[in-house]
Amino acid sequence: MASLFSSRGVVSFVLLLGWWGFHLMGYNCCYGEGMVPAMYVFGDSLADVGNNNHLETLLKADFPHNGIDYPGHKATGRFSNGKNSADFLAEKLGVPSSPPYLSIPSNSNKTDVFMNGVSFASGGAGILDSTNSGQCLTLNKQIDYYSTVYGTLVQQLGSAQAQEHLSKSIFAVIIGSNDMLNYVKSSSSKNLKSTPQQFVDSLISSLQGQLKRIYNLGARKFAFIGTGPIGCCPSLRHQNKTGDCNVEANYLSVLYNKGATSMLQELKSQLGDMSYSFFDTSSALLLYIQKPASYGFAEVKAACCGLGDLNAKIACIPISTYCSNRKDHIFWDFYHPTETTAGMLVNTAFDGAQPFVYPMNIRQLSAL
Ligand SMILES: *[C@@H]1O[C@H](CO)[C@@H](O)[C@H](O)[C@H]1NC(C)=O
Ligand SMILES: *[C@@H]1O[C@H](CO)[C@@H](O)[C@H](O)[C@H]1NC(C)=O
Repeated sequence: MASLFSSRGVVSFVLLLGWWGFHLMGYNCCYGEGMVPAMYVFGDSLADVGNNNHLETLLKADFPHNGIDYPGHKATGRFSNGKNSADFLAEKLGVPSSPPYLSIPSNSNKTDVFMNGVSFASGGAGILDSTNSGQCLTLNKQIDYYSTVYGTLVQQLGSAQAQEHLSKSIFAVIIGSNDMLNYVKSSSSKNLKSTPQQFVDSLISSLQGQLKRIYNLGARKFAFIGTGPIGCCPSLRHQNKTGDCNVEANYLSVLYNKGATSMLQELKSQLGDMSYSFFDTSSALLLYIQKPASYGFAEVKAACCGLGDLNAKIACIPISTYCSNRKDHIFWDFYHPTETTAGMLVNTAFDGAQPFVYPMNIRQLSAL
């Protein structure tokens, strides 16, 4: 059993090879045909590329059948059968997949590594510190770590050069789903709870402060990925007798995306030199769910990997079963999209248009 879980060595090896490659290309150069110098990633399990491998937590994915379609068929800590949104976004930008912050060896040249982008994304993370507290790097913790990265870059490169580098880089933010899932789960005490609008307002208000903090640490280009129709994930469908989507969860997500849209607009007018691209994952993913055949999907409800009704009673763990037709499933496990779904969503975020992505797509944001 132990060998099934020892994916970490392989990951570090691949990352080291990657760093060696950049080293040979010269410090100040870019990676390949990169449209931007680097990407810095904040978020949850939709973007985690292995930070949680380094935490004592139940929220892990560094075991089969995760990674079954990843190069080398390795479980890397990604909550996916293959690549996730952060990987596809990096590919589109022509930059390396940002390594997990917690995987960076202490004896490496931090400046070199940090210049090529870093991922702070952590499975289970939320906007609120109380969301999966103790089980993940909360968004606030992720920003604390980023502030260390910022400090190192300023110290090594000088303030002007660090600012120059960061202002051209992409700051991807994929967060919010876990906060809302926890709100839905806690619906037993309905009379004590804030209303969906009040709850989402508190998320957005907190997020505004968090984005400002990232801005104050040099970020200027935000690729903000809104939340998906979380009520349609197999886990929540499983809890509905009819197998339909959870209405309250989808409503929260709509409110969140609306709130984030106006908050970003406000930030831009406040800060002036900040730019963003907002991607409405809910609208895009609902299209696939409503007209699966048009998008090449055959299974919109059941997870590919799991156990029980809709493969959604049990997570994707080594004893779970998994499907062979992974390309026609929207969901990999009871919460996360398949590699195919993630790739299609990123295509739209990168090159799409209104009403899915605005006020510009990520390609346009990169080119600014
Ligand atoms: C680390 O990299 C930076 C920039 O690439 C370089 O200026 C510095 O000398 C390197 N430090 C060491 C200890 O090699
Ligand atoms: C379950 O699905 C039905 C639609 O068939 C919907 O009316 C109901 O609100 C759903 N339950 C929850 C908890 O969302």
